[in-house]
Amino acid sequence: MRILVIHGPNLNLLGERETETYGTMDLATINSTLEAMAKKEGAEVECVQSNNEGDIVERIQGARGAFGAIIINPAAFTHTSVAIRDAIAAAGVPTIEVHLSNIYAREAFRHHSHVAPVAVGQIAGFGAKSYTLALRAALDLAKK
Ligand code: DQA
Repeated sequence: MRILVIHGPNLNLLGERETETYGTMDLATINSTLEAMAKKEGAEVECVQSNNEGDIVERIQGARGAFGAIIINPAAFTHTSVAIRDAIAAAGVPTIEVHLSNIYAREAFRHHSHVAPVAVGQIAGFGAKSYTLALRAALDLAKK
């Protein structure tokens, strides 16, 4: 069972970027935590990060038939990208949307997600734990 984890723009700066909002855990630590958790469940995660919308679209397209579920934190593209939304709809791979922060408790421009309507569900506001909660959900989805 394989799960694709996609981190969007600026998430490569986690741990040093706006730590009061996003916490102090860096991306490598989040990824290794997910890898270890998946391994315990007999699954495998592949983690990728990109600052480019087109790269993310291509990753989602490539997930079709190769991954049982996608976990994605589209970061700022959440609020802007119809292309990522359409790629998720087209790929047909069950997708979980993740945010470290509670986007609904922040600026109004973060309250709308283009991805939410095509995701199975969204987990937001639990810091790095949002990802482990999403992996739990993704493992269940991928088993189905
Ligand atoms: C984010 C929330 C987005 O609004 C923001 O642009 C990010 C990170 C989060 O994980 O809380 O870059 O997706």
